[in-house]
Amino acid sequence: DIFGAERKNSSGINIDIRSQWQPFSAQINTFMTRQWRGGAIINGELVSEGKSLEIRSPYQQRTLVGQVCWTDEIGVKKAIDSAHSAFAQWNSTSVEARALCLEKMADLMESNTPELIALCHLEAGKIIQDSIDEIREAVDFCRYYATQARTHFADALVMPGPTGESNELYLQGRGVFACISPWNFPLAIFIGQVAAALVAGNTVIAKPAEQTTLIASRAVELLHQAGIPKDVLHLLAGEGSVVGNAITQDERIAGVAFTGSTDTALRINRSLANRTGAIAPLIAETGGQNAMIVDSTALPEQVIKDVVQSAFKSAGQRCSALRVLYLQEDVAPRMLELLKGAMAELTLGDPSLHETDIGPVIDTNAQSMLRNHIEKMRQDATLIYETAIPAIFGSECFIAPVAFKIDSMAQLESENFGPVLHVVTYKASELDQVIEEINNSGYGLTLGIHTRNETTANYIDRHVRIGNVYINRNQIGATVGVQPFGGQGLSGTGPKAGGPRYLFRFATERTRTINT
Ligand code: SER
Repeated sequence: DIFGAERKNSSGINIDIRSQWQPFSAQINTFMTRQWRGGAIINGELVSEGKSLEIRSPYQQRTLVGQVCWTDEIGVKKAIDSAHSAFAQWNSTSVEARALCLEKMADLMESNTPELIALCHLEAGKIIQDSIDEIREAVDFCRYYATQARTHFADALVMPGPTGESNELYLQGRGVFACISPWNFPLAIFIGQVAAALVAGNTVIAKPAEQTTLIASRAVELLHQAGIPKDVLHLLAGEGSVVGNAITQDERIAGVAFTGSTDTALRINRSLANRTGAIAPLIAETGGQNAMIVDSTALPEQVIKDVVQSAFKSAGQRCSALRVLYLQEDVAPRMLELLKGAMAELTLGDPSLHETDIGPVIDTNAQSMLRNHIEKMRQDATLIYETAIPAIFGSECFIAPVAFKIDSMAQLESENFGPVLHVVTYKASELDQVIEEINNSGYGLTLGIHTRNETTANYIDRHVRIGNVYINRNQIGATVGVQPFGGQGLSGTGPKAGGPRYLFRFATERTRTINT
């Protein structure tokens, strides 16, 4: 099992994915044939007037998963009106009450795991392990931010001052926060942003990715069930060009948390800067051109396991995923032989089957962009290996894991969000050039280093401008509260999701001075 059956939860305890999944398999199946309904939710009501769409499975385009209804500028205004009026009361609700809602949400996601796994398969094409990881991460975010809020928001910091004066510093919500989330972690990132904003005292309008509206609507129903008032959280499902623009132009938006492409983050930044109204912070977590550097002292079997996981798990649809592997020249031939062998073992297929390693990419658009890139690579680069796609596959959105040898990272124009690995070989004397090439990309999300030489590891670590550096392991799957996650430069603004400083950016500080 190349992807391994274990992961660590936030307490560092190993969880056996298979033993977690098996008790649920019969229950998951009962949800696999359901027709879902979802869409925008304003004041707790599922919006029924607007653009209606069919959701089809990325695995089998002919399978209708459900029906969603999208909202527009009028819905955006209605939701912001409501969230704006609800702010004062929610912000003065006790931190304890808000934290308890998050913990209740964590419990609800755990008790609804089979349904959420089915939705992850059907709407997002996620395989079993990825679906369980997704739900686990969403649960971890709720519990972690609840704890962080109790630690930092519940009590004021008493500041020193002269006799006869009391000085206190405390944190409060900023107002209406917009949370704009991607399809690749339709539950975990969606919940992570929303939970952080809510527990910090903000009211929230959430804009999910168009492709994963159903998962987001189910999550909002559960959040309301967990005690979040209906006017405090609204779901603005809809087209980015309509709903997203209307959100970021509204002067009552007090902050935006965004995860998605660098281009969209820059557009949001410009839109926020050009409106009237308060200066609103943008918390952006964007893409990467993530590298791994492997020197001649590295352990080949470990390297290949970590390369395959980092580049191909979740069909490469992680912002943390490995895109450019730098192999020291003297070990490259052996490493590439092992890589081919490992890629040959990967099984593409039905995401709901346990033997499947690689599910589909999210939709036909993603598939055709990746195909264009792969065609270009066939012309400009040297094919190392391409995993076979079973002959029975028809129009489903599959992209086979593929690896190409290229001359340098500069040959890549942009991030390719799928299972495409690029390999560059380097001489020991060229390590500084490798580091420079990585830094010159402007991105700074994840980096893998494989070496048994501690001096080399420390040297690389000191010289790269990267948010998450992983030494002698894979470079994906940051655990909440263990590996706070987020990049720098073109990869994002910070603070890191799942880290102890994340909530602060959702809050505003107040100093209260009393002349006693
Ligand atoms: N947080 C995810 C990971 O670490 C990426 O979004 O893989």
